[in-house]
Amino acid sequence: MPLVGLDVGTSAVKGVAIDEEGRLLATASAGYPLSRPQPGWSEQEPEDWWFAARDVLGQLPEGPVGLSGQMHGLVVLDAEHRLLRPAILWNDQRTAAECAEIEERIGLHRLLELTGNRALPGFTAPKLLWMRRHEPELYGRIRHVLLPKDYVRLRLTDELATDVADASGTLLFDVRRRAWSEEVCAALEIPLEWLPSARESTEVAGAGDQAAAALGVGVSRPGPVSVVLGTSGVVFAALPGYEHDPQGRLHAFCHAVPDTWHAMGVMLSAAGSAAWLREVLAADVAVLEQEAERLPPESEGLLFAPYLAGERTPHPDPDARGAFVGLSARHDRGALWRAMLEGVAYGLRDSLELLRELGARPESGRISGGGARSELWLRILASVLELSLETTESEEGSAFGAALLAGVRAGVFSDADEAVSRCVRTRRRIEPEWDYGRGYRRFRRLYPTLRPLEEP
Ligand code: XUL
Repeated sequence: MPLVGLDVGTSAVKGVAIDEEGRLLATASAGYPLSRPQPGWSEQEPEDWWFAARDVLGQLPEGPVGLSGQMHGLVVLDAEHRLLRPAILWNDQRTAAECAEIEERIGLHRLLELTGNRALPGFTAPKLLWMRRHEPELYGRIRHVLLPKDYVRLRLTDELATDVADASGTLLFDVRRRAWSEEVCAALEIPLEWLPSARESTEVAGAGDQAAAALGVGVSRPGPVSVVLGTSGVVFAALPGYEHDPQGRLHAFCHAVPDTWHAMGVMLSAAGSAAWLREVLAADVAVLEQEAERLPPESEGLLFAPYLAGERTPHPDPDARGAFVGLSARHDRGALWRAMLEGVAYGLRDSLELLRELGARPESGRISGGGARSELWLRILASVLELSLETTESEEGSAFGAALLAGVRAGVFSDADEAVSRCVRTRRRIEPEWDYGRGYRRFRRLYPTLRPLEEP
């Protein structure tokens, strides 16, 4: 029986249909716009997700459907399930004041104890507080709060539900207990009745995109880490038990496998940095790669700070900004390109170091995301992380993971581990080849050096 996975992403719904051994039967995708009504804001129309999802489903063979999607977005509905406003997305940065308010009301220490995470502008709870302050009339009409992919679920099945993996990114969820946090909701005066029922990913065939992507590359248990070079960049480790970073620099979330957790670092501009630089240089990526390859590691001293959209890990700072530092007259566009690839890799190494502090002992990294198509980037990344990287046969990432969850719920697989062992196969391995020790030490000094420039 075909298994279908839909990923409700930031640029498109991507869909995949696989057979019971994980072989690809069909793919389809349908895109939609993102609106930036003010600097730092990022919104989408939930109905666009639904139309795209319907379109994609129409192009795929029929079978049980699993859902994955962009995390943290706020979708608000009235009593009749009508949308009250566009969704506010994960990469929206408008809520710095509300994050400070949450950490003040609850206390950073207690918030970390209760949710495993600190208040970051992308998360869902601060968006609700923002609405209460700036759109009180609309706020007063809220009766239901959903995450992006769960709006598609509502339109598909009329069901108000989510999964513990996606719920973990709301800041209203007790990640250790895998249930909504009554204490946090009470402290923030957010009615518990607004929240959908939260069940295990394998029960509702759904997960936030990072947990789904990890499953899709076979990271169901501690072992390899999942490394994603998408618009955002992620290093994700499955953990043997609940664990959180006492300083909240890493996210601590429930995994899509029952009774397991994961920690991850998220950088906001990974392949997003590449998309930006390609646009600025107005050149073909293949040409830039060739020119970059001629440079030695460390790009003759040129360093790139990849904070084009603020940062989350390890610097939870919406006002962080990017930079090229160490320019000389010898640097050409190939050098800019190589320094950008290196800067993003260093940013991911920051996350990996924090995961190691938390006790993760990765044997390798499973790499996915659009940036993984760059051979040079993979070689640089393996070297900077000092970790072998493996690609997998399926490149469908989160949608593939969602299809595996659909298979578990439908009883095709007895559990997530069986889904992984039957369907996920590695394709090839990229070994570290260059020494980036000195380059990484220089990179570590970059953010503290640049940050004072952004002070008012
Ligand atoms: C994860 C995160 C992003 C979005 C984008 O915490 O914010 O990966 O889920 O898809």
